[in-house]
Amino acid sequence: MRGIILAGGTGSRLFPLTKVTNKHLLPVYNQPMIYYPIRTLLDAGMDELLIVTGGNNAGDFLRLLGSGREFGKIHLNYTYQEGEGGIADALRLAEHFSDGEKICVILGDNIIDGSIRGAADDFRNQDQGARLLLKEVPDAERFGVAEMEGGRIVGIEEKPSHPKSNCAVTGIYFYDNTVFDKIRTLKPSRRHELEITDVNNAYIAEGSLTYSFLDGWWTDAGTFESLARANRLAAARAGLVLDDELVAGAY
Ligand code: G1P
Repeated sequence: MRGIILAGGTGSRLFPLTKVTNKHLLPVYNQPMIYYPIRTLLDAGMDELLIVTGGNNAGDFLRLLGSGREFGKIHLNYTYQEGEGGIADALRLAEHFSDGEKICVILGDNIIDGSIRGAADDFRNQDQGARLLLKEVPDAERFGVAEMEGGRIVGIEEKPSHPKSNCAVTGIYFYDNTVFDKIRTLKPSRRHELEITDVNNAYIAEGSLTYSFLDGWWTDAGTFESLARANRLAAARAGLVLDDELVAGAY
């Protein structure tokens, strides 16, 4: 199975932090954001990775990561997304790289505490289809939300104002190679993007979508609040004092 990190976009929700750099190069505690998804994929046994980026700062990924040597045994590949076509449009560019294999796709701003090793192994053993990682959250309206019925996902809505469950679809997806045919059938959404939620609904329609729940904390880092949370969580995991202790110890 090959790994794909989607690291494009304008990062407009983080403006002006993203005025002169790409969101995925911003710091999350002591590392650039992109290091976290790279480590998530490596930990799950994927060492053949593709980074899809775009915009004016694409060259900085090469300057930062180079061949990926500092991560050990890894083959880093890069490709460039022209314009702003959305997550599924960026994924389209990975067809050649995937070379007929199963893929794991991770959004470059998704940071997790634990491991996706178990889910990756389950998907390696799954004949076909797709597998999602879900997380129960208090603010599901910010995400793709799974509608559950009898232990199955029967539909996914993108950022619904009235979520049908508290199960967010995290930005970590496992797909078989039919994903690229499914992307070819998509129509742009109201925000003029090819939506990953439409890809996932296509797998539901053919009855081949499975899921796991993600263990440990999960956060995206695409807004000021979630980026601040990502920094605090990563710092806490690294052993830095937590907020309460920080406040108590402040001058
Ligand atoms: C994207 C997806 C959404 C998913 C989220 C996870 O949203 O469209 O379905 O739940 O990533 O981070 P974005 O935050 O990129 O708008």
